[in-house]
Amino acid sequence: MKKVKILKIIKENYKVKSFVLDVKLDALAGQFVMVSIHNVDEKPFTLSCLDPVTVTVEEKGLFTKEMFKLNVGDKVGVRGPYGNGFSLKGKGCIVAGGLGIAPLLPIISKVSELIVGAKSKNDLLFVDKIKGLVCTDDGSYGEKGFTTKFLEKVLKEKKIDTVYTCGPEIMMKKVFGLCEQYQVECQASLERYMRCGFGVCGACVCGDQMVCKDGPVFGSEKLRMLDDFGKSALLKSGKKVELKEYYNYREK
Ligand SMILES: Cc1cc2nc3c(=O)[nH]c(=O)nc-3n(C[C@H](O)[C@H](O)[C@H](O)COP(=O)(O)OP(=O)(O)OC[C@H]3O[C@@H](n4cnc5c(N)ncnc54)[C@H](O)[C@@H]3O)c2cc1C
Ligand code: FES
Repeated sequence: MKKVKILKIIKENYKVKSFVLDVKLDALAGQFVMVSIHNVDEKPFTLSCLDPVTVTVEEKGLFTKEMFKLNVGDKVGVRGPYGNGFSLKGKGCIVAGGLGIAPLLPIISKVSELIVGAKSKNDLLFVDKIKGLVCTDDGSYGEKGFTTKFLEKVLKEKKIDTVYTCGPEIMMKKVFGLCEQYQVECQASLERYMRCGFGVCGACVCGDQMVCKDGPVFGSEKLRMLDDFGKSALLKSGKKVELKEYYNYREK
């Protein structure tokens, strides 16, 4: 684990900040790092920029509230990068929901179609960097509707080889379903509770895969076999619960 200085903090919206870190990593888009705060905890974060290394963080619970108290010049622990990144194949389409745009940012200029969605205007991220379709659930910015509605149109009308997706798992499950219907390869970045980050503790098991080591990006072949994809996940305690409960559970 390296002790790394925070070089810059950018407020992205009312609940999201990006932290530019003083570290060089040989990382791929879609890989993640474990970030630790002394005497607090350690959590996985994907890289929203590979150089300079940047993590984009949404304020949620214990760890992220502490992270939001940090200032430029403070230090965090960083280990990694871990896991598999996105692997670019043919004509690509990105489908990102909410904070899911973060791991996809490093490849936005490498795809021909880009669909970015959020609940509402206030939740949108990196709008100035997005040259593609922006949609919101409530229609407060861009097109009104879910990302999957616009993906279906793209898959019907254009030749796409690979869809790259990250966002709420329910959205990714629907994206995968559409990709199967239109026989297009899908790469989805999954999230599970993690402890070690490199395949030893078993905390992040999903089906017969370790999300930290075999993922977090999974291609269609693996997604087809992942029984827990879009259905269930393990809590910090190791108890398996439905995804909805997993997202609502306050880890203590
Ligand atoms: C591979 C990977 C990459 C990640 N990348 C990012 C990233 O780039 N940016 C980022 O902000 N977060 C990312 N996360 C999530 C992050 O690691 C933390 O789980 C999250 O920030 C919550 O931590 P917390 O301690 O603040 O909240 P907690 O105290 O753990 O939880 C607070 C609330 O958030 C909910 N919650 C906890 N974990 C999740 C989760 N994984 N998804 C949805 N809701 C959850 C809980 O149910 C609870 O209600 C990633 C997770 C993984 C596995
Ligand atoms: S976090 Fe330990 S095996 Fe994945």
